[in-house]
Amino acid sequence: MARPGKLLVTGCRGQLGCDLVRMLSARYEVEGVDIEEVDICNRDALVSLVNTCHPDVVIHAAAYTDVDGCETNSELAMNVNGEGTRNVAKACREIGARMIYYSTDYVFNGRKDSPYVENDPTSPQTVYGKSKLAGEQAVQEMLKDYAILRIAWVYGRHGKNFVKTMLKLGKERAEAPDSEPLRVVDDQFGNPTWTEDIVRQTEVVIENNLRGIYHATSEREVSWFQFARDIFDLARIEVTVEPCTTGEFPRPAPRPRRSSLENAHLKAAGFNVMRDYREALVEFMKQYAGELGK
Ligand SMILES: NC(=O)c1ccc[n+]([C@@H]2O[C@H](COP(=O)([O-])OP(=O)(O)OC[C@H]3O[C@@H](n4cnc5c(N)ncnc54)[C@H](OP(=O)(O)O)[C@@H]3O)[C@@H](O)[C@H]2O)c1
Repeated sequence: MARPGKLLVTGCRGQLGCDLVRMLSARYEVEGVDIEEVDICNRDALVSLVNTCHPDVVIHAAAYTDVDGCETNSELAMNVNGEGTRNVAKACREIGARMIYYSTDYVFNGRKDSPYVENDPTSPQTVYGKSKLAGEQAVQEMLKDYAILRIAWVYGRHGKNFVKTMLKLGKERAEAPDSEPLRVVDDQFGNPTWTEDIVRQTEVVIENNLRGIYHATSEREVSWFQFARDIFDLARIEVTVEPCTTGEFPRPAPRPRRSSLENAHLKAAGFNVMRDYREALVEFMKQYAGELGK
């Protein structure tokens, strides 16, 4: 395929979608839509929008991402993440567009002792994971020209994420020296990944017409506790952080114990541009720590 001219981004006001639109606009014509413009569950409205926009590539970042909320709203989760994604894939098929779909480490059960590679069997343990896997299957059924990028532990300047929560809690505690130590889970491991790195990797996938399933997370796995310590260290916030176990923080959706991903397919193809987790976090904090956590 020739170099794409026009991109359509769904979920353009979400954490990743904001950075996709901003960064890719420097090189492509980009149209962003979110639920206010079109609900991806409304197939007719979606097909009509995609027909009018007529993009070369649809980058599908819209999703119902509240992992705990998905447990109690399973029908909505399956509709948005499963059927909504099928609708996007169908619309792509009608106009011959490529599709990029973001999936998740939650498609795995988290019980493997080494990082997951793309061909490992999926076995989601949560409604969110099942609904995102349903989305993967829909894309594969409907299209030949697609790339599924499995990402994880995403943070960025926009939306809600762990880095912003830690900065807020850390600053509050630093201003109240008698406050309790901050307790953070130390028995779940993954790859924290910056949205801007995901956008750069997505651009490489588009430019090189990569097809299939790709893991696309930062290198190196850490626990949430280690991640929190690195955030406070880089932001120079003096706060006492203590490790705790998952059992001490019960949540409606069970979290995978170890859901690290290995970017095996990107590396084999020579197109992995994801870097070390800490290097990315250093740059993120340098750029944004001052304005976040207020
Ligand atoms: N965040 C992570 O750690 C993570 C990890 C792995 C994979 N992913 C995947 O990466 C992608 C981007 O995630 P993100 O963190 O940017 O999510 P996000 O911040 O929640 O953004 C998703 C966007 O989709 C919109 N949306 C929800 N339902 C919709 C519908 N029915 N029709 C149209 N738009 C709808 C949301 O609007 P509202 O806010 O109004 O609902 C929101 O603006 C998603 O596919 C997600 O599953 C994320």
